[in-house]
Amino acid sequence: MKQLNWLITGGCGFIGTSLIQDIISSNPNANIRILDNLSVGTVEDLSEVCSFNQIRHTQITESPCGCELIEGDIRDSQITEDVCKGIDVIVHLAANTGVAPSVENPRQDCENNVIGILNMLEGARQHSVNKFIFASSGAPLGEQEPPIHEEKVPRPVSPYGASKLAGEAYCSAYYRTFGVKTVALRFGNVYGPRSKHKSSVVAKFIKEALAGETLEIYGDGGQTRDFIYIKDLISAIMLSVQNDVGGEVFQIATYKETTVNELTKQLIKNLKEYYPNLNVRVIYGENRLGDVRRNYSDITKAKTILGFEPQYDLNKGLKATIEWFKETSGLR
Ligand SMILES: NC(=O)c1ccc[n+]([C@@H]2O[C@H](COP(=O)([O-])OP(=O)(O)OC[C@H]3O[C@@H](n4cnc5c(N)ncnc54)[C@H](O)[C@@H]3O)[C@@H](O)[C@H]2O)c1
Repeated sequence: MKQLNWLITGGCGFIGTSLIQDIISSNPNANIRILDNLSVGTVEDLSEVCSFNQIRHTQITESPCGCELIEGDIRDSQITEDVCKGIDVIVHLAANTGVAPSVENPRQDCENNVIGILNMLEGARQHSVNKFIFASSGAPLGEQEPPIHEEKVPRPVSPYGASKLAGEAYCSAYYRTFGVKTVALRFGNVYGPRSKHKSSVVAKFIKEALAGETLEIYGDGGQTRDFIYIKDLISAIMLSVQNDVGGEVFQIATYKETTVNELTKQLIKNLKEYYPNLNVRVIYGENRLGDVRRNYSDITKAKTILGFEPQYDLNKGLKATIEWFKETSGLR
């Protein structure tokens, strides 16, 4: 069977590097083209998971050979078209990530997340790319009576939710009009190794606790999220590449509702198993604009159609995450 040629946008980031590591662990000769503007992820982050050639826009060939990094922006319609040459599967991860930056600068969020995906889908169409996986989120759904699922009417609260919803809409249109097999995966709150630069709650609290800083919970901590360990998330991406699906949306999470207070308690308990003398102080601050109160996902559709089955509960996932931070922080 011909091996797949991959294009991973945002491949130097948290999810991108984890995905590349997974692909390479089962095929060390995989052909992976990476497009990243290096605004968040770095060349060093990528070199931790693969060896690669860094090439210029003008050096893009008819198809990738081994791993190659192209520094470029998804808002640039010329480069996004050129990187799609000879590609079988696009995993589109590059984005303005998260609610807070979108509230601060909605226009920038829109340019990255709406123009960015339109450019990538155009590239996919021009070069007859077979599969297009889009990193969506629970944010398009907005404030709903949980669990959220694919049949609920989206009502985004944040600009980020709105831009991800627009991405889902373009995925639907490019499948139905042009036949690009798009799959929008609505990720829950992803945590795990390689997330050191993230400001999401698990990574932030581990870094702060290990640095002896006070943990600040936004609001009363009763807000809920669905926390998914990175390995489970990667397995969902791989399943959506392998299954012959197109024009679909899937909730990818664990079907477990956890309050931020519960998460914090569990995290501190796990941290103390590794650092018995750790003294962690927790305070409560203001609610954040754009955040929803309750959010967890019914994942029945992903289970039924993709065969997705998360393997990590919070305890197991947090321990694996703390171990990685411990190994890489120098703090022992
Ligand atoms: N991490 C989560 O919990 C989570 C949850 C839901 C959805 N998502 C989505 O998954 C995707 C990946 O998230 P992540 O956690 O790996 O984020 P990340 O910030 O670690 O990685 C994103 C990567 O994209 C690159 N990038 C950003 N803007 C770009 C642009 N304009 N052009 C080219 N590259 C650009 C960054 O340099 C970075 O390397 C994002 O689309 C995000 O919205 C993540």
